[in-house]
Amino acid sequence: MSKHTFVLNGKAVTVDVDDDLRVLWVLRDILGVRGPKYGCGINVCKACTSHFNGKAFNPCSVRIADVKADDEITTIEGLPGTVGTDLHPMQQAWLDHDVAQCGYCQPGQIMAAVAKVKQARAEGREIDDNDLDEIRNVCRCGTYSRIREAIKAGAARM
Ligand code: FES
Ligand code: FES
Repeated sequence: MSKHTFVLNGKAVTVDVDDDLRVLWVLRDILGVRGPKYGCGINVCKACTSHFNGKAFNPCSVRIADVKADDEITTIEGLPGTVGTDLHPMQQAWLDHDVAQCGYCQPGQIMAAVAKVKQARAEGREIDDNDLDEIRNVCRCGTYSRIREAIKAGAARM
């Protein structure tokens, strides 16, 4: 066991866990932050998608020992705080388009969507259908068409 500090949703946190424990289990089981979902545990389904220093990442595939004290992890719980509102515009778009079915994949879908919009903006452009095709988050309920519409609407409000 050893101590690991990082910034979670805007606040510094410290955990005392094995170096090899993956960040998803630190978030869910140690810190009680359960927005990032466990699906596969091997970086395939993307249900756990969150942000690492502003970019999409999958905490099931990152060792806690590889997270530094000034690294910022944002989960769906902290997403509204990044824009200072009760709901992030992408979350509002999800509600407006009634996207969720069972809902299990949706936190990861929203986090992937926000990261993709930010990535495109950093490249000086808006998201397009190719960007949407690159989002590989699995939805077993097949809500993909509503997800795509919501991402476009959410992006327009970001
Ligand atoms: S649980 Fe992380 S990618 Fe599937
Ligand atoms: S809404 Fe059920 S898995 Fe996506």
